[in-house]
Amino acid sequence: MKIGFFDSGIGGLSLVGYARTKLPDADFIFYADTDNVPYGTKTKEEITALSDKAASFLISKGAEAIVIACNTATSAAAPYLRNKYNIPIIGIEPAVKPAVKIPGHKRILVIATPFTVKEKKLHDLVDRVDIEHRVDMLPTPELVKFAEHGEFESDKVKEYLEDCFKELDKEDYCAVVCGCTHFIHFKKVFLDIFGPNIAVLDGGKGTVNNLCRHIKGEGYQVNKEQSGKTSYYRSGREITDKDTLEFYKMVIKHAAE
Ligand code: DGL
Repeated sequence: MKIGFFDSGIGGLSLVGYARTKLPDADFIFYADTDNVPYGTKTKEEITALSDKAASFLISKGAEAIVIACNTATSAAAPYLRNKYNIPIIGIEPAVKPAVKIPGHKRILVIATPFTVKEKKLHDLVDRVDIEHRVDMLPTPELVKFAEHGEFESDKVKEYLEDCFKELDKEDYCAVVCGCTHFIHFKKVFLDIFGPNIAVLDGGKGTVNNLCRHIKGEGYQVNKEQSGKTSYYRSGREITDKDTLEFYKMVIKHAAE
């Protein structure tokens, strides 16, 4: 089976890395839409059109299931893509459900792109599961740029996040939910700012587990010629240069740490 993943950039690589541990023999294609990153400041129509382009590219390369490894694209385009393409399309959502199960009454901070924070999908999810009204939502769009440069722990990142969180009483929080796949890379800085007891959650693993349930239910099979190969594309162009492939490997490793 060939599985396609797409994101606006490197964020989705954490899902590719985790999926590889669960599906060692499947072939993966990863599409990073780096010509159009960031998605989170675009309109629903723009994000839907870009997501459609990514999905149709992955299908043209043989993808038999697609993981939308991007919260923003899931909020904007998942129903559209599911309606248009007749293959499993798995979306990601911020890990609000596990966060509200954390015992106690402390607050939960969901950070995401401006699009995800204002979209109905996240508000509906919070309304459904946040019975005690513990969840706050905040956009932190600059993190996408930092992540694209592989800048995960610099002073500039820390200054930016301290400024984003300046109004918050850090002691009140028990969890930071990364509602954007680029954000898990800043875990160390979240721990620095909120203290070592803060839980940092993201929806990547849950999404991949959901993919596995889905494709196994559909009679998932590894073909003989499949070797557990992953190919990487930037907005439709195959990545062959060593530096970028090394960077992607480093990003996958960093997300798993
Ligand atoms: N990684 C994406 C997400 O999960 C979007 C980042 C962006 O392009 O703004 O929302």
